[in-house]
Amino acid sequence: MRHSVAHNLDIPMINTASSNKQSEQPQSQTSTPCIAVRDLNFYYGDTQALFDISLDIEAGLVTALIGPSGCGKSTFLRTINRMNDLIAGTRHEGEIVVSGHEIYGKKTDLVSLRKKVGMVFQRSNPFPKSIFENVAYGPKIHGTKNKSRLAEIVEKSLLRADLWHEVKDRLGDSALALSGGQQQRLCIARALAVDPEILLMDEPASALDPRSTAKIENLIAELRGDYTIVIVTHNMQQAGRVSDKTAFFCDGKLVEYGDTEAIFTKPQQQQTEDYIRGRFG
Ligand SMILES: Nc1ncnc2c1ncn2[C@@H]1O[C@H](COP(=O)(O)OP(=O)(O)OP(=O)(O)O)[C@@H](O)[C@H]1O
Ligand SMILES: [Mg+2]
Repeated sequence: MRHSVAHNLDIPMINTASSNKQSEQPQSQTSTPCIAVRDLNFYYGDTQALFDISLDIEAGLVTALIGPSGCGKSTFLRTINRMNDLIAGTRHEGEIVVSGHEIYGKKTDLVSLRKKVGMVFQRSNPFPKSIFENVAYGPKIHGTKNKSRLAEIVEKSLLRADLWHEVKDRLGDSALALSGGQQQRLCIARALAVDPEILLMDEPASALDPRSTAKIENLIAELRGDYTIVIVTHNMQQAGRVSDKTAFFCDGKLVEYGDTEAIFTKPQQQQTEDYIRGRFG
C-alpha cells in the first residue's frame, strides 16, 4: 500500500521494511478500534477548536493527522491523553474510548492514562539529566526500583528507539549534549520505557534535518504493529510514507478520513484534494 502511495505521489521511498511488516500484520489487528472518538467538541474558553469529531483509530496502525496550521491537529492529539487538561479554561463534550475505557470518565487515573498513551513533541524535550536517567525516569515513577531491571529497560528502550549503539558508552552523559535527532529518539525511548500502547507524535521530525527525519520515519515503521501510532505532520510525503490511515482536518472539523492511499490518490472531498495538491494551507 505504501509503495503505491509513494509511486502515485512520486515520493522516494526510504523504507522498504515498513511495507514488508505491513503484510505480516494479522488481519484482526487492522480492524480493532483502539481509540474511538465520538462527537468530540473542544473549547479553549469561549473559542471552539474542535467540532463534532468522530473517528475510530485502529490498533497497531499508523494514523496521520494532516491539515492547515491552526486546524486543530495538536488540540485533537492532546485530547487522547488529556494533555489539554493542563491548559486552564479548556473543556470538551463527547467521548473518547481508549482500549475500552472512556478516558474522560471520573475513574480515569491520569498517570495511568499517560503511561498507556505516550507522547512525543515537535521540539525534543529531554530532561536536563543523563541519558540513562531520562529513560529510567518513567519506570522509576511507576515503581521500578531494581537497578538491573532499570538498566534492562533503558537498554531495551534505547535499542527500540534505534539509539542504543550511539549512546551505550556514554549513558551517564547529559541528554542535552546529544544532537537534535538523537534527542528526539531519546524522547521516543523515554516514551517507550513505560510500555505504552499508544504513541502520539506531534510533528516529531519537523525540526530535524532530512537524515534525522529518515531515521524517525524508519523508527515509526519499526514500531508499527506493536504500538498504535498517531502522528501529526505537515509533510504530505511523510504522511504518505509512514501512515496507513490519514485524517484530514480543516477549521476544527474532520473533513475526510480513510486509507492513506485513498486519501492521496482519490480523495472524496474537494477540500482534501485542494489541500493535498498544495492549493492551500
Ligand atoms: N493553549 C491555547 N489556548 C487558546 N487557544 C489555543 C491554544 N492552543 C491552540 N489554540 C487554538 O486552537 C486552534 C487549533 O490549534 P492547534 O494548535 O490545535 O492547531 P494545529 O492544527 O496543531 O496547528 P499547527 O499546524 O500550526 O501546529 C487554533 O485556533 C489555536 O489558536
Ligand atoms: Mg500543532
